[in-house]
Amino acid sequence: MSNNSDRTKWRSETKGVHGGTLRSQFDETSEAIFLNSGFIYSSAEEAESAFGDEINRYLYSRFGNPSISMFEEKLRIIEGAESCKATGSGMSAVFAALASYLNVGDRLVASKALFGSCYIICKEILPKFGIEISFVDGTNLEEWEKALSKPTKAIFLETPSNPSLEIIDISKISQLAKVSNAKVFVDNVFSTPILQKPIDLGADVVIYSATKHIDGQGRCLGGAILSSEEFIEDIVTPFIRHTGPCLSPFNAWVLLKGLETLSLRIKEHSRNALEIANYLQTKKIVSKTIYPSLSSHPQNDIAIKQMNAGGGVVSFEINGNKENVFKFLNKLQIIRISNNLGDAKSLICHPSTTTHQRLSDDEKFEAGITQNLIRLSVGLENINDLIDDLEYALDS
Ligand SMILES: Cc1ncc(COP(=O)(O)O)c(C=O)c1O
Repeated sequence: MSNNSDRTKWRSETKGVHGGTLRSQFDETSEAIFLNSGFIYSSAEEAESAFGDEINRYLYSRFGNPSISMFEEKLRIIEGAESCKATGSGMSAVFAALASYLNVGDRLVASKALFGSCYIICKEILPKFGIEISFVDGTNLEEWEKALSKPTKAIFLETPSNPSLEIIDISKISQLAKVSNAKVFVDNVFSTPILQKPIDLGADVVIYSATKHIDGQGRCLGGAILSSEEFIEDIVTPFIRHTGPCLSPFNAWVLLKGLETLSLRIKEHSRNALEIANYLQTKKIVSKTIYPSLSSHPQNDIAIKQMNAGGGVVSFEINGNKENVFKFLNKLQIIRISNNLGDAKSLICHPSTTTHQRLSDDEKFEAGITQNLIRLSVGLENINDLIDDLEYALDS
């Protein structure tokens, strides 16, 4: 039997429930919401010392706020990172992490299979600031080796990728990155810290859209960047403080409550998703089923090595054309059409005409997004109801 006072030894579920809680003078059970923009100083001298960094206290909610701190600390200890900085959305986390680190003339190597807006940041926005970008097929080690033989400051990858669920070997890429001294940034949205811990696998920076499974009930936007204390305090925090993509205290509170149940929900999402993936494989009209823990997944060996389960998203292709795909989507009754994901409600989308609409046909092809590809974010409904819903729409 061990004494539980060492919080670092708590398991993920316990960290999710108790981690990071700050109690006010009222000793509330559930965390309070500090819905304030500013703070009051007891004297002008105190304000001066606070702005001079001589004392550590809250100054303004763009810089920090107790509700935001509780969210950051809870996520930090679940992830096992040294430090965490929250942001207003997943995209502001991706942009702030990369833009705060990269300078004019630096080179970024990224995998091609990225969420649409992540791809646009790499392809169009960062190059406007003089950053060079090279894309590789994230599943091809030779392409990584070749790309990393040139001086590289950062690597950005998403695994499993949205929506083609490509799996990239984080340990291998992190080893290759050491040769050129590049920092490895991993967008870990589809796995969450419950299924995959990129820092333990050698990555330097982990990025989340907390809008997805961390909230888990489709209520608010949020994001987070986790890394070493040095990276977060010296590089990311000044960027966020002065450019302002901060998280709202109310959203921080919603998200920290989401973290309490993250582990339970992710296990259930993964269980439902695996059953659906197995079901889809039995349907003739489904020409391809993509799910990390299926043995038919091309990178199933890597998924088994670096993930605890397959996650809550299943992608698949059905025979026919766009009209057939739309007809199938329109027939569903429980599973709703939405570009969002990671919700208790099952949500389905056609990436080619929604999240990845802005990509050219060639770019879609490179990212594995065909006209027939469908992304299903499996929710927490009864599995038999979900399968009945799919069965009715597929048979129709
Ligand atoms: C992999 C991935 N990264 C980042 C984002 C962006 O997150 P947000 O919508 O919170 O800005 C998304 C959104 O779907 C995503 O799927």
